[in-house]
Amino acid sequence: MKKLLAVMAVIMAGVYAAPAQAADPDEAIKYRKYVMGTVGDHTQAFFAILQGKVPHTGELAYHARALAEAAKRTKAAFEQNTAGQGNEPTTTLDSAWDGPQFQAGLDKMIDATESMAVAVETGDMASVGAIAGTLGCKGCHDNYRSK
Ligand code: HEC
Repeated sequence: MKKLLAVMAVIMAGVYAAPAQAADPDEAIKYRKYVMGTVGDHTQAFFAILQGKVPHTGELAYHARALAEAAKRTKAAFEQNTAGQGNEPTTTLDSAWDGPQFQAGLDKMIDATESMAVAVETGDMASVGAIAGTLGCKGCHDNYRSK
């Protein structure tokens, strides 16, 4: 058992060869886009169902929960300031790294998507409608993304 644990530790160390501090800027930018892309996909799927464009009402709770979980991951995704670094295309404006306002925008989205998921899970559809307009996607993009 002890031997097995030791072997696993070695394997894990190899798999999760975590960089000591910062990631390569291009990788950090790509990761950020993967996470935001997931947020975007679940949001689109959620609204397509909510607005009756597709009939998959049984999937609404899944997308709401997946959106809330993805939203929580945006904090890590925006941890590394990549301003002026790397070759990977990015639309994040330098001002996103300036202060607490951008982070507050992420926090607001995290809270709103969590509340929305709970509302769907408890069948409180009136609240879903009210919260859906307060996710803050457009506001943040208008302020912190290049066109
Ligand atoms: C607090 C700011 C903020 C909030 C809130 C926010 N975003 Fe973003 N989002 C960004 C920034 C900055 C980028 C640019 C990422 C990059 O290119 O480096 C981005 C990029 C994206 C992308 C493009 C990802 C890619 O592949 O390039 C999508 C899609 C997206 N956001 C969807 C959403 C949706 C949907 C919401 C709301 C549920 C949302 N975002 C909320 C800041 C935000």
